[in-house]
Amino acid sequence: MFLRNYWYVAATDAEVGRKPLPRTILGEPVVFFRTEAGAPVAMEDRCAHRHLPLSMGKLVGDELQCHYHGLRFGTDGRCTRIPGQEQIPRGAKVKTYPVAERYHWIWIWMGDPALADPAAITDFHWLDDPNHWGAKASYLHVEANWQLVVDNLLDLTHLAFVHDTTIGNLADQAATAAGYNIANYHNRFYVLPGLSCGWAGLAYVGYPYQAWSNAYNVLWVYGHELGHNFDLWHAGSLNCSPQVIGGGCSVNEYGDRFDIMGNNSNTNEQMHFNAMQKAALNWIPASSVVTHSSGTATYTLSPLESGGQATYAVKIPVPSDANRTYWIEYRQPIGVDSGIASSNGAQIRVAAPFQFPCTNCGGDDTEILDMTLGTPGNFGDAALLLNQTYTDATYGVSVTVTGVTTGPAGTLTLSVSAPGGGTARSRRSRGAR
Ligand code: FES
Repeated sequence: MFLRNYWYVAATDAEVGRKPLPRTILGEPVVFFRTEAGAPVAMEDRCAHRHLPLSMGKLVGDELQCHYHGLRFGTDGRCTRIPGQEQIPRGAKVKTYPVAERYHWIWIWMGDPALADPAAITDFHWLDDPNHWGAKASYLHVEANWQLVVDNLLDLTHLAFVHDTTIGNLADQAATAAGYNIANYHNRFYVLPGLSCGWAGLAYVGYPYQAWSNAYNVLWVYGHELGHNFDLWHAGSLNCSPQVIGGGCSVNEYGDRFDIMGNNSNTNEQMHFNAMQKAALNWIPASSVVTHSSGTATYTLSPLESGGQATYAVKIPVPSDANRTYWIEYRQPIGVDSGIASSNGAQIRVAAPFQFPCTNCGGDDTEILDMTLGTPGNFGDAALLLNQTYTDATYGVSVTVTGVTTGPAGTLTLSVSAPGGGTARSRRSRGAR
């Protein structure tokens, strides 16, 4: 039994052309082709006359001509021509199926055509977004239940054991032969020649500290996968438009473009880990993260990229919600952060644990919040700028950017309020003037 009222991937876009392509979908023979205008078509691969597979025939314009007695069928499945006969019976037709072309795949709807809504197609935008993602279109034919394939691909822990003589072993031998004592290396990064798989990089989160690049000799793969080896998860974004946080939200697991643990393959935009992640790694001292628990206070932050500064982040744990903790930091266009605007302002994130019961929150360390609600879903302008205030009305937390100076020795000054307390305090960074 098959679930019919769903979109299924039937072929890659490159497979479907002007040569009829036969394929069995949900147990039914289907033939695919493109019209002269390039639109994909799917119809029953069985002639209405003597049931020869129509995929054995040929295209005449946008009509598929059967190879046996030459009946032709239009893109709506109706017979348009019977050689030697003027009358075409109304029942001379074959079934057609709704199709859609998206994410380099041809999708087919095998159920009730009236219910076929392309908007319901599963989002695989990373296969169709060369500015931000690397993707390769290919497939491997496995003679097994498809659920076992999914199970295998999700199970990374088997790599070091099942593939111990294949994935990485020859590389280890080559490194040893070249004079390296690999026992001295905590992390191992294997760059593969290019597999027919839909991933650019893979890594363990933590031990055994191994990572793989699928022929991507680029920083956005190396830095990201090593981040996983360092125990980091992804840097996501939280879109709760029309509000900053609360109500119905969606999470993009890789949505933080200001963090290499998000996704941004643009040149020169493979950016620093964020302050929460650097604090977790002890890359910035614990004393450089100020916790604001109550009352009103002023803080002065230094750019996260500038070493040796006193204060890099303000952390605001919301007292009445253990699952909402804000992290605020300041970034400047320095080094690998050169893609950040100097007028960046305060970047505000929430960190795990998150209060939203979304299924993919578990893969994120942090989620950046969008402080510019006029451009929903655009996190390039997520920062809170000078003289702007963010207010969490639910919990009475507010943050105002009261001062900004740019450059490596620049500072960002914040006024932060949270319920309780009331004593005004201030803390300045070493770089403040
Ligand atoms: S079987 Fe197709 S035309 Fe006769």
